[in-house]
Amino acid sequence: MKLLNVQSSVRHDGSVSRRLSQAFINSWQTHQAEAKVISRDVGQNPPSHPTALWTQANYMPPKDRTPAMEVALQQSETLIEELLSADRLVLGVPMYNFSVPGTLKVYIDNVVRINRTFAFNPETQQFQGLVTGKKAVIITPSAGNFVVGTPLGDLNFCDPYLRSLLNFIGITDITVIPVPDQLMDDAIRQENFESAQQQLMALATQW
Ligand SMILES: Cc1cc2nc3c(=O)[nH]c(=O)nc-3n(C[C@H](O)[C@H](O)[C@H](O)COP(=O)(O)O)c2cc1C
Repeated sequence: MKLLNVQSSVRHDGSVSRRLSQAFINSWQTHQAEAKVISRDVGQNPPSHPTALWTQANYMPPKDRTPAMEVALQQSETLIEELLSADRLVLGVPMYNFSVPGTLKVYIDNVVRINRTFAFNPETQQFQGLVTGKKAVIITPSAGNFVVGTPLGDLNFCDPYLRSLLNFIGITDITVIPVPDQLMDDAIRQENFESAQQQLMALATQW
């Protein structure tokens, strides 16, 4: 069983998403006979943005690509292979301005590619996700409370976006663990942190 751990907080020390992700992975590993964890830290080592050459290469049959185009797509190919090889996906995603961190968006731009992670059938006009048979957990802290279904939930373009995006590429078994109020007073911050931790520990036993 292979787990891909994608972290996107710009912080290391004090990062709520990193701390909870690591606790979850540690616990999950104790329930797996053979577990391999691959780390992709886009918060600390952001991928490059797609370029014009990248885009041209992306929409061209692989056999027609020039060597320069192959180079332009190399990082994207590495990230896609890594994603396709994983059975489980952990996403540490702090809310940044009601959405995902920019570095995670660049990662997404690199991995959501036609005929690699999704397909389009012109006859039926249907899209089809190609990243199937996986489970994902999204651990998403925020300073305030923008959890979907709460009064300010309409401002949340973070986990609803990720859920739609993962569905689009074929990942449908998704658990979202929000960790709201992480810059609020100590009691509420701690309560929400512990609640998230408990949910994650329970999930780790049967994930
Ligand atoms: C650039 C930036 C933008 C942020 N935007 C929001 C926001 O829109 N809503 C919110 O509740 N918190 C926001 N925060 C606070 C973080 O979501 C919160 O501190 C979270 O715990 C950060 O995750 P981490 O602890 O894993 O680093 C923002 C933080 C940063 C650095």
